[in-house]
Amino acid sequence: MSGLFITLEGPEGAGKSTNRDYLAAQLRALGMDIVLTREPGGTPLAERIRELLLAPSEEAMNADTELLLVFAARAQHLAEVIRPALARGAVVLCDRFTDATYAYQGGGRGLSVARIATLEQFVQGDLHPQLTLVFDLPVEVGLARASARGRLDRFEQEGRAFFDAVRSTYLARAQANPARYRLIDAALPLAEVQRSLDALLPQIQGLHRG
Ligand SMILES: Nc1ncnc2c1ncn2[C@@H]1O[C@H](COP(=O)(O)OP(=O)(O)OP(=O)(O)O)[C@@H](O)[C@H]1O
Ligand SMILES: [Mg+2]
Repeated sequence: MSGLFITLEGPEGAGKSTNRDYLAAQLRALGMDIVLTREPGGTPLAERIRELLLAPSEEAMNADTELLLVFAARAQHLAEVIRPALARGAVVLCDRFTDATYAYQGGGRGLSVARIATLEQFVQGDLHPQLTLVFDLPVEVGLARASARGRLDRFEQEGRAFFDAVRSTYLARAQANPARYRLIDAALPLAEVQRSLDALLPQIQGLHRG
């Protein structure tokens, strides 16, 4: 594999999408081949699974169903987009990936880490992001930013305990593996967040060269 797989993680409203686009522009200016994508989704079929996951519905979604749908979408996304892009040497910038599964389905829903790890191995084999940016901010700040956008999706309708668990799972995973994760203070003004991304550019170039 000659490409570079970078993921952006964090709760709703943390600035993942905004900063993914910013980082893509900076890396393109350096001449890099960038593929922008997101999860759940990233292919037409996986985006249909995303709609199932996000739409509020009368019938409560079983937590195992949710977990399997997340990994079903991921299998499609890996096969159609991520693996081919990495094979041709591109940099893939993905808005959420398996860390979000540990945070939301593990931390938030309370599913076991072992069960998630089993599916991770099944779907990804030894493919993992080489760099994961975790956008961290107080739960209420993120929810305020997200709800300013309008109607809340099925996850955004969860309560405070759910989002506290999401945040602490992200932080624990980042602390356990400092080589892969960079923690970003997403509560800072956007210009400061973007300065911290600028500081990562040489490192990203280095990782891409291998
Ligand atoms: N550092 C920041 N300070 C203030 N506002 C910000 C900052 N970063 C992003 N925002 C704003 O917060 C809102 C949410 O940002 P964005 O959509 O990038 O978050 P996200 O992490 O992708 O959220 P989601 O998980 O819901 O997709 C946007 O209106 C964006 O302009
Ligand atoms: Mg987003």
